[in-house]
Amino acid sequence: MNETDANAQMPIKETFNFFPIDSYIGILSQVSSSSAKLVLASKESQKSIKPSATATSGDFVLIKSEPYAIFGQISDVSLAVQKKKGNDGEARVTPVAVVDFLASVEIRTRAVSSGVLQTPKIGSSVYIADPKTVQMVIESRQKVEQDSGGLLLHFATLPNKSATPVGLTPERLFGRHCAVLGATGGGKSWTIASLVEEIEKHRAKLILFDATGEYYRLQGRIRHVHVGAEREQPDSSMAVAIPYFHLTEDDLFAIFKPDAAQAPKLRAAMKSLKVARLMPILATGGLITKADRSKVEFEKAYENYINEIENPYADFEILNLTRQIQNECVFHQRSAVEPLIWGGINSGDHSQCIPLINRIQDILNTSNLAPIFHPGQFPSLFEELHAFLKDRDCSVLRISLKHLSFYHNAREIVGNAIGRHLLELARREYFRQQPMVMILDEAHQFLNTALLDQNIKLDLDAFKLIAKEGRKYSLSLILSTQRPRDIPEDILSQMGTMLIHRLVNDRDRAIVERASAEIDRASANMVPSLTPGEAIIVGVDFPVPLAVKVKVPKNPPDSMGPDYQKFWAR
Ligand SMILES: Nc1ncnc2c1ncn2[C@@H]1O[C@H](COP(=O)(O)OP(=O)(O)OP(=O)(O)O)[C@@H](O)[C@H]1O
Ligand SMILES: [Mg+2]
Repeated sequence: MNETDANAQMPIKETFNFFPIDSYIGILSQVSSSSAKLVLASKESQKSIKPSATATSGDFVLIKSEPYAIFGQISDVSLAVQKKKGNDGEARVTPVAVVDFLASVEIRTRAVSSGVLQTPKIGSSVYIADPKTVQMVIESRQKVEQDSGGLLLHFATLPNKSATPVGLTPERLFGRHCAVLGATGGGKSWTIASLVEEIEKHRAKLILFDATGEYYRLQGRIRHVHVGAEREQPDSSMAVAIPYFHLTEDDLFAIFKPDAAQAPKLRAAMKSLKVARLMPILATGGLITKADRSKVEFEKAYENYINEIENPYADFEILNLTRQIQNECVFHQRSAVEPLIWGGINSGDHSQCIPLINRIQDILNTSNLAPIFHPGQFPSLFEELHAFLKDRDCSVLRISLKHLSFYHNAREIVGNAIGRHLLELARREYFRQQPMVMILDEAHQFLNTALLDQNIKLDLDAFKLIAKEGRKYSLSLILSTQRPRDIPEDILSQMGTMLIHRLVNDRDRAIVERASAEIDRASANMVPSLTPGEAIIVGVDFPVPLAVKVKVPKNPPDSMGPDYQKFWAR
């Protein structure tokens, strides 16, 4: 049963006056299939009804087109100047407006459908829609979902003085994923905090990727963890590592970036170290020596442990990696008649590998990457993730990545690794009984398309796959960014709902307008002038773009700008 059918079966409501006389603003003078021109009644109006309401751009209106009330929004108000006949005739000025049609409300049943079910005629009367009617139209599309459970997230109000609350079902808000977009200072982080607080009330499961560590004040059923050994707020936050053996070989290749000649040696060295770990008897000091040695035992061990070794997460001692790469620089066989014995040291290979060896040594010594390459005593983030999933008393896992380096694409790779892990759980139906929401603040730091490096192309595609498949496995994504143009288009286009804060950059606005077919002209024109916390919600499940003011979160993020007054000398 689709929603329109369901609406049609809704019980008929008590009579409701959509067209109170004091809301009258004028009549239609010209009508097209999607919009109309409206002559606004003025004090000098010939019509017997004198208007007490006025209209401004952005107002919602109802047009009488029985049996429907056509719901629309004013996009443009201007003065039309008309000269009276004769050369000296005085000019007559008439206020006019353009109204875009958004939805149709059946007057009798109050069922709401997107689009125009009956195009209104010239001369139809137009009325300002009061906030309660707007709320009714907005919320009516979700009646079916509400009636079956009644769970609404109240994280915003209509942006008017009456502050009418807006309740949205989770299905509608992020069931098909949600993008929170806006220029810096638009209110994205506060919106995320309000959403987290609202979701937490319902004992849901949510993972918040906190790129800058600003959400440390969030309280309630929440676990705070942070990547790295530095202390972080709150005091209860637990330091975790992302051990390299929880990254795949592809991830490590993306960090170490071998060239075409170096890649086979790096791959061979990782394989040797995995064999050395599983069969220490074949190794000396943790290393496999190859020059002039027999291949037989090594190949036999590889065959015996092939499943363990070919597992993308197979463990090995990374601190031996550079020395093992040197051991790999040998001729393939000792002589034409000795195929089962490796040859001697190949100094050509060796000199080709020196830049790679230096780079790996440098990366292993970078302190910002210590949570990956020197996990030490810290628990693994992945273990914490599983503990969180099992903990019935905990709703939110906040992962602070404040101290994780931007160098060597570590953020993209680690974000992708966590995303991939969740996707694997989702594909195993892990979230079917326990829907999971993932929030990615500052998403452009994690989704910066594919890493392209000379000969190795690595698609960091976990989030792309979550955007495509997550819905059917109950894994939803909420991503927030100030740079929509940096989000791959195939991810943005999968976002069923967009919560748009103030956006000024023309390219960003064009991208948002292209990605969301539902945004109308009037709403698009409002986007640059929204104040902090105001947003327009558009999406497949929204019959009309919905302007809202997001509630102030109880524990706002710490997103203060620099305090010059306090710290600079006067
Ligand atoms: N819902 C709201 N109600 C009232 N004020 C708000 C609201 N949302 C944001 N603000 C104000 O705007 C400021 C900036 O908000 P916020 O940090 O959420 O912006 P942002 O879009 O996340 O910016 P950035 O892209 O720089 O992270 C806040 O410090 C607060 O003063
Ligand atoms: Mg922010």
